[in-house]
This record gives sequence, structure tokens and C-alpha cells, in this order.
Amino acid sequence: MKKLLPLAIIMALLCSLLFTACGTDSGKIRVATDATWPPFEYVDTDTNQIVGFDIDLFTAIAERAEIEFEFINVEWDPLLAGVAQGTYDAAISSITIREDRMADMSFSDPYFVAKQIIVTKTDSAITGISDLVGKKVGVQTGTTGDIEASAVAGVNVTGYDEIGMAFVALLSNQIDAVVCDTPVASGYVSKYSNLKTVAEFPTIEEYGIAFPKGSDELMQKINAALAEAIADGVIDDLVQKWLVN
Ligand code: ARG
Repeated sequence: MKKLLPLAIIMALLCSLLFTACGTDSGKIRVATDATWPPFEYVDTDTNQIVGFDIDLFTAIAERAEIEFEFINVEWDPLLAGVAQGTYDAAISSITIREDRMADMSFSDPYFVAKQIIVTKTDSAITGISDLVGKKVGVQTGTTGDIEASAVAGVNVTGYDEIGMAFVALLSNQIDAVVCDTPVASGYVSKYSNLKTVAEFPTIEEYGIAFPKGSDELMQKINAALAEAIADGVIDDLVQKWLVN
């Protein structure tokens, strides 16, 4: 027993030294993103870096707010759960501000407007939402595309962990359509000449940065910096850089 106590103290000291060295206490906020959603957040396969509209936007905001941060690449489902539980300090990931999500998290002011849209092969006979009845529709699980497609009675919805997998399934004729956010759809349609956008859902979605409940101080800083960035024309520049072909 006599020997154990000092050993325990040494271990505790060693552990705290180790953790400090590892940077857990670095003062950087942890910002989650599901980097599978081009052109808003995705991994550039040449550089292995996370890039995109949201990545540039958050960087511009953090600079103005004088916040140090690191991006953490997380899948969509654990991203929303992680924000709700406070595992991350914030998340920027084309997240649609929704009343039901507000029960678990808070949102910044909106920074972008998108819609849900149907994408098919160019030779498809689908021309509108009602044509999806009885058809196989791919979505990213837990996204608003999933919510909207699943709300149409008689649609056979398949959820994928990443939207890219839904597009692979569409291109190989395993499914009949994909429903996702308009900027993502446009990206895939301009990349693959045998895809087309067909019809939008009658919904308007605003993207916001998400925070765990009770992050009022950080959220206020970010909202102020977001307003500055918008006034400086950052969003317009990012639209030109990432969305205009
Ligand atoms: N805007 C949609 C939503 O909030 C999809 C966002 C998906 N984002 C992502 N990085 N996978 O549900």
C-alpha cells in the first residue's frame, strides 16, 4: 500500500503531461464536418485535405472571430448526435436548420439556401415527384433528402452512409433516382453526362452552423463574424469559386 500511493501520483502526473503534449487542451474548438458532400465539404483525393464551400466559409469566419479550430471528419449520423451531446463545439456540414433539430442543438444565422431535387439517368421517364411512387430512390440516411423522399407514400427509399454511394447505385442502374440538396445534385450532373436533374421538392432549406445547446457565447461570436463575412462578400466569392461552373 505504501508503495502504491506514490506510484499512483506519478502515473497521474505522467498522464496529464501526456495529454497536454497531445494537444487535448490546445484551446482549439472542434468543428465537425461530414466531408462526403461535394462541393460543400469533401476530401480532395490529390491532397487528402478537406475542402469545399463550408470549409472556406468557416475558415473566413474563424479568422474574423479570432477563433482557433480544427476540423474533424465525421459521418453524418454521429455528427448530428455528437453536436447534440457536446462531443463537438460546432459543426458545419450543409446542415439544414430544422425545427425538429432545434430540440437537440442550436443554429447560427442562415448562410445559404438550398432545395431538395430529384436526379435520374438522362434516359429516365421520371419527370416529377409522383413518378417516384413504386421506384427505388437513393438518399444519404438521415438527411432532409431522406426525410422528403420517405414522406412520399409508396416510394422505396434506400439510405446510404454517403451520397456518393447513392450516385454509384444510380449510375449502375441499381436504383431509379437520387434525392439530395441542389448544389450536390448540380455537381454530380455536371460531372456525369448521363445524369440529369428532374424536379425540385416544394421546400426551401437554409443551412446553418450547428452548436450544442448552451453555446451562446461561441454562437454570438460566430454570428457576428458570419455577418461581417457576408458584408465582405465572402459568400458571393464562394458561390463563384465552388458553385458556378
Ligand atoms: N442539408 C441536408 C440536411 O441537413 C443534408 C446535409 C448533408 N451534409 C453532409 N455533409 N453530408 O439534412
